[in-house]
Amino acid sequence: MSTGQFVSRCTADAMSSAATSIKDGNLVAFPTETVYGLGADASQEKAVAKIYATKGRPADHPLIVHISSMGGIGYWADEVSDYAIALARAFWPGPMTLICKRSTAAKDFVTGGQETVGLRVPDHVVALALLDAAKEIGVHGIAAPSANRFGHVSPTTAEAVREELDQYFSPQDIILDGGPSRVGVESTIIDCTGNNPHILRPGAITQAMIEEVTGLKVTDAQNEIRVSGSLENHYAPQAIVALDTTPQLGDGYIAMSNRPTPAGVIRLASPQSIEEYARILYASLRDGDSQKLSRICIDQPQGDGLAIAICDRLQRAARGR
Ligand code: TXA
Ligand code: MG
Repeated sequence: MSTGQFVSRCTADAMSSAATSIKDGNLVAFPTETVYGLGADASQEKAVAKIYATKGRPADHPLIVHISSMGGIGYWADEVSDYAIALARAFWPGPMTLICKRSTAAKDFVTGGQETVGLRVPDHVVALALLDAAKEIGVHGIAAPSANRFGHVSPTTAEAVREELDQYFSPQDIILDGGPSRVGVESTIIDCTGNNPHILRPGAITQAMIEEVTGLKVTDAQNEIRVSGSLENHYAPQAIVALDTTPQLGDGYIAMSNRPTPAGVIRLASPQSIEEYARILYASLRDGDSQKLSRICIDQPQGDGLAIAICDRLQRAARGR
């Protein structure tokens, strides 16, 4: 069983050795405001291959390239639309990934052979410090999917990364602990290659926010059949996820705090706001698994904005592993 190095004190020295480790072709799991990422130098094929092996993910799934600032867009993308620039200005660093036409720097091994590349500037001091330190030694971007095994729930703490992936790490690999992720669901993914922005995955940056900044009508992928390989199918715990049903004896239960817990039901979370719901959802699902519950009943949150992102993940989780 291999073990990565677990680093809780993210000092400047720790960041520069993590950056050096990335440059040397190793993996570094790092915190972001959405979920934890599993990072490698986006320009090194062998390093990126380690991400796929560690996650158990099919190699034709594209990875998001994380950059330290907007300045990195031009390195990885060509013919970037004006509205994409407007979005980057408004929401980076933040929970938003822009899909742009790739430059020659974005190789097939990171784009999954697609002609586009996904770019994101995360809003977390540790992620930004790592990206800055890596850039100083010539690493232009860090490719990183969520730091979970393929199809599982994304990790929102360093401890959850360790539980998911430790046995697949090499001793040179590193987990940076930056505390629990503040947002808790993955970034909004926006396809910026067409005349209008198109939401591929809902997140904390909402349709209304995008329309306000760009002045353009946004289309979304909610009701489309997803192209195989373009987005992951599920974010599922071991337990069966049942949506909007009355929990029975021995079931786990996640619902807003104003919903009572029936007798004999194990309450896993009682968020008081949509933001709190997003922030604690994945940890609550993991909690249900660690208690070996066979079923978790979840009341979907009402509303638009972040509630749409939560319901998107819940519906995939309900489809199972
Ligand atoms: O919040 C997030 O986005 C987190 C943190 C770590 O940044 N990352 C994340 O990555 O969720 P991942 O790989 O678990 O999910 C990214 C999704 C994948 O479903 C992938 O197919 C899609 O983004 N994606 C990446 N590049 C793409 C592209 N060029 N075209 C279409 N979809 C793309
Ligand atoms: Mg993922």
